[in-house]
Amino acid sequence: MPIERTFVMIKPDGVARRLIGECIRRLEQRGLKLLAIKIQILTREKAEEHYQEHKEKDFFESLVAFICSGPTVQMVWEGEDAINQVRSMIGNTNPLKSAPGTIRGDFALITQMNIVHASDKPESAQREISLYFTPQDILEYKADDEKWLTTK
Ligand code: CMP
Repeated sequence: MPIERTFVMIKPDGVARRLIGECIRRLEQRGLKLLAIKIQILTREKAEEHYQEHKEKDFFESLVAFICSGPTVQMVWEGEDAINQVRSMIGNTNPLKSAPGTIRGDFALITQMNIVHASDKPESAQREISLYFTPQDILEYKADDEKWLTTK
């Protein structure tokens, strides 16, 4: 499997409910490596750009208002098959369909307020990472445990 980078955002509900550490703990414990992190309240422009693929959906306005309503945390994570692995760890978009053991399945009940966002494919990961981070923001480093967590 390829070593990939993926973008993860903890949404205002996740920050307000003090789940930043819980989300990071799960990703770290799995063996993924944190390369970049920021906390910020998104501008409307940034939120609209982030969710541009949903512009025509009836929930778009409400989603943008929600995502700008409080602090959010942006992160870049790296690891084997990171995009799919993180998606499976966060669970179905609708928390009512998320399996127990996933972040949404353990902490959420509402589709909009589903704690966390993660890139769904390599093109989204690239786009989302560059929306929030410059190449200088992303730290490349070797971790001592990598021989146990990659085949490279
Ligand atoms: P996310 O993974 O960030 O991708 C798009 C977001 O839109 C999704 O999580 C939800 O927060 C939100 N969303 C998707 N479908 C709906 C819906 N039917 N109603 C409200 N919000 C939605």
